[in-house]
Amino acid sequence: MDRIAIRGGRPLMGSIPIGGAKNAALPLMVASLLTAETLVLRNIPHLADISTLAELLSVHGVRLVLNGHGGEENFDGGGGVAGRVMELSTPVITDTTAPYDLVRKMRASVLVLGPLVARMGQARVSLPGGCAIGARPVDLHIKGLEQMGAVIDLVDGYIVANAPHGLKGAEIRFPFVSVGATENLMMAASLAHGTTMIENAAREPEISDLAKCLLAMGAKIDGIGTGRLVIEGQPRLHGAVHDVLPDRIEAGTYAMAAAITNGDLELTGARAEDLGAVISVLGEAGVSIEPTNRGLRVRRANGHLNAVDVSTAPYPGFPTDLQAQMMSLMSVAEGASRLTETIFENRFMHVPELLRMGADIRLGGGAALVRGVDHLKGAPVMATDLRASSSLVLAGLVAQGETLVNRVYHLDRGYERLEEKLSACGADVRRIKNAA
Ligand code: EPZ
Repeated sequence: MDRIAIRGGRPLMGSIPIGGAKNAALPLMVASLLTAETLVLRNIPHLADISTLAELLSVHGVRLVLNGHGGEENFDGGGGVAGRVMELSTPVITDTTAPYDLVRKMRASVLVLGPLVARMGQARVSLPGGCAIGARPVDLHIKGLEQMGAVIDLVDGYIVANAPHGLKGAEIRFPFVSVGATENLMMAASLAHGTTMIENAAREPEISDLAKCLLAMGAKIDGIGTGRLVIEGQPRLHGAVHDVLPDRIEAGTYAMAAAITNGDLELTGARAEDLGAVISVLGEAGVSIEPTNRGLRVRRANGHLNAVDVSTAPYPGFPTDLQAQMMSLMSVAEGASRLTETIFENRFMHVPELLRMGADIRLGGGAALVRGVDHLKGAPVMATDLRASSSLVLAGLVAQGETLVNRVYHLDRGYERLEEKLSACGADVRRIKNAA
């Protein structure tokens, strides 16, 4: 298993390119199930999660071509820059079962449920099971489809859905915001008979990106970017070409890397409009983020880092996917900050690891009280999810001595060429291949 070794203490200087958003690319790839024609997605990031979904989609009969070449080697091939344009064609859905072995690797696989039932009238999708950051049930996905007329049973760990006469429009009101349920039902509703209303829909930029792609495929959706989506189902959708939006979580992570190392970075391709809450929280912490011709420039405004209180919330609030990285930053800020997690009940797996690096953090009642320390110290660390792992990389960039981040496969799920991007800006970071 690979590890990443970091010797901290070097300010990051230079520019880092921001890739296409993983959490937009995944549902966009799934949207290809809705049409027999070709969907072309540009700016697809080279990530393990993209390969996992590609594998699942090929089980359903999707033909994938990446930069003109088909086949797995294009997704996982060692090093090199991966193809960025993905063509997905599904003239025929050959199998409506999403098997456990693939779904358990990545929860986003459950997004195939709505499109498969909408197009084929049936689907059998494994329940994803537990997850390191929380229980993460999929009840809203299931209830929404039932409201649209699907008959759903849970059999042997699988969601078995049937709608032999197709799905019908419905009025769906979520009791709380769910990104995945909004995406699943928006895709299903695009091919349903009649009009579907989704109230309390998620408003994340990745949802709007998916909606725009569906529009380009012939869907009719009103209220994009709001909490109330109205989708008029169409008998069929067609092919389209769509550019995946830049990854706001990757951008936010590198913004915090600039801040924690007292560096000066340009994040090329990053969009300020998707990062409102992050820019304002970092501004309070003393980090300046200014637009440039190519993206965003990030550095400390006057050399200091101030402690700030942060609570995660659905978009446009502060993203849960940046909470761990923010905690590393606050670990070395001046003063005490309270970080409250409201989305996932168990998303503090990075805390014990940060403690091992000398951070001063106390957990209680869904919040972490972080008292800034003078310095962190390098240590061997590991985390059990993607964003927790990236928070340990940030801590390693500023810690004295060497930090060894284990279980790098978590990082490879969501950060493309992380060690290359960081070392190009002066960090002392290297990947140790196949460490014992
Ligand atoms: C998406 O997950 C992202 N994943 C997550 O990113 C992100 O943390 C999360 O949204 C919140 O922003 C992708 O986009 C692929 P939810 P999702 O449904 O859709 C509960 C990362 O690091 N819930 O908005 O699974 C759920 O347990 C990942 O890139 C139900 O109870 O998140 C959670 O507490 C991790 N029942 C809350 O809602 C349901 O049916 C929000 O989850 C659905 C969700």
